[in-house]
Amino acid sequence: MANPQPWWKNAVIYQIYPRSFQDSNGDGIGDLAGIIQRLGYLESLGIDAIWLSPVYRSPQDDNGYDISDYCDIDPMFGTLADMDNLITEAQKHHIRIIMDLVLNHSSDEHRWFQEAKKSRDNPYHDYYVWRDGVEGTPPNKMRATFGGSAWTWVPEVGQYYFHQFSIKQPDLNWDNPALRQELYKAIRFWMDKGVGGFRLDVIDQIAKDPDLGITSNGPMLHAYIRELNANTFGSTDLVTVGEAWGANVQNAPIFSDPRGKEFSMVFQFEHIGLDQIPGKAKWDLAPLQLSALKEVLTKWQVGLHGKGWNSLFWNNHDLPRIVSRWGNDGAYRQESAKMLATLLHGMQGTPYIYQGEELGMTNVAFPTIDDYRDIETLNMYRERTQAGYSEADILRSLHAKSRDNARTPMQWDATTNAGFTDGTPWLQVNPNYTAINAADEVADAGSVFHYYQALIRLRKQYPIFSEGDFTLLFADHPALFAYQRRLGDQVMTVLCNFYEEPLTLPADAVAPLPLDTLLLGNYDTPADAAHFRPYEARIYLNNAE
Ligand code: GLC
Ligand code: CA
Repeated sequence: MANPQPWWKNAVIYQIYPRSFQDSNGDGIGDLAGIIQRLGYLESLGIDAIWLSPVYRSPQDDNGYDISDYCDIDPMFGTLADMDNLITEAQKHHIRIIMDLVLNHSSDEHRWFQEAKKSRDNPYHDYYVWRDGVEGTPPNKMRATFGGSAWTWVPEVGQYYFHQFSIKQPDLNWDNPALRQELYKAIRFWMDKGVGGFRLDVIDQIAKDPDLGITSNGPMLHAYIRELNANTFGSTDLVTVGEAWGANVQNAPIFSDPRGKEFSMVFQFEHIGLDQIPGKAKWDLAPLQLSALKEVLTKWQVGLHGKGWNSLFWNNHDLPRIVSRWGNDGAYRQESAKMLATLLHGMQGTPYIYQGEELGMTNVAFPTIDDYRDIETLNMYRERTQAGYSEADILRSLHAKSRDNARTPMQWDATTNAGFTDGTPWLQVNPNYTAINAADEVADAGSVFHYYQALIRLRKQYPIFSEGDFTLLFADHPALFAYQRRLGDQVMTVLCNFYEEPLTLPADAVAPLPLDTLLLGNYDTPADAAHFRPYEARIYLNNAE
């Protein structure tokens, strides 16, 4: 029986993208030893766990999301001993380590795939998804997420293999029981090392059926997840979060079943798709409608209350920086970064902070494609150039949405390369590091860093943050995102001016609100309850009438 209030319901999780966090040996690539050096910083921020993007042995075609050995560390990041060290050292700072499991596909350089493509009778052949066909005519028209056909021909076996991502990321065949057992064994290997949990990459895509064109939410999905759970973390207190682009408010309670048969929670992406042209790619930009954001977030807050568990996030290693995306990374960078943090951290769920978000780090606008490294970005550039898009048009999309926006090195201080490396960084540092960096922010009590620290502290102090229910306020207001949380006789009111334009609420609308005790706000001069300055955000806590 799962604990009625597991630790992760009060936790805040910090995501590290290891290659961009801290380099310890001057090769320009972040590593495990580098992370260990920064544990003190993370403890002072107040986080409970680190989700580590993949550090397994990998050819790095998709920066580690292409694994060639599930039970080893890539030499670029360190050794197994470094990993043991990280787990032990993090414990001393009261921080758990969450590993990233990529179970939908492996690298084509994994031993299993090397064997699988030797012959149809090889015992590993069936670990992957194959279809007969003739060279030049793939089984169907399915496209890979990173461009091109989802099918690649292997002459040795005279068959196509299926890959939802790059050509070097062949999909694993979850219908094969031996494959599933191998994966569970790898998971237990990390559990025995004392990790605190797992993030499961594109987990809703494991039960694919390419003949029917099904990628996410295949018919066997929940059966496979339950088997995985029962064979690995099911009876532990580990936190598990499934990445599920196909999750909706109807199926999310199944994934995050409070009885603990599947995961603690999922990452769903409904709010993330709101600034693209509906039905088109993320590169096809559209302005965010605040009304749509309110509607989506409210639906998830209300929909999962008591039935599942929300993960709260604006950012990760695949997404642009939120302050550049929906805030203002110019004159109101600090105010808008704090406003967005308030809006998210006031909600029910487990908040995730992506490295540098706590500093208000921004997108980067590299002038040419040569500065970019991400496979998705490079493939998109090639495809759109061939399709006749202008250079300016493509760069505009990349500046807004390229995954490299999140992947520029962490900005530690104002010294060369932002204190990230003594060598040449694998991806250029954002030139704004002299103005935006951790050293300055830690020293400045009014910084974005200290604001995140305060939000984390409040979540630990007041159970209403994790347990209270949710009601949207001023639903039709064009600029104010406001809501109320209630728990027992307490009521918490969160009010955020989403834009630069100051706004004033009508006196009769403010009068009934319980706004006596201000818990936190992003301006240091006193507030007038009805008036909101640019991006002003406030949290009040009161006893209900
Ligand atoms: C997930 C990861 C992303 C990766 C993809 C394929 O979406 O977050 O970085 O490229 O899966 O593994
Ligand atoms: Ca290094």
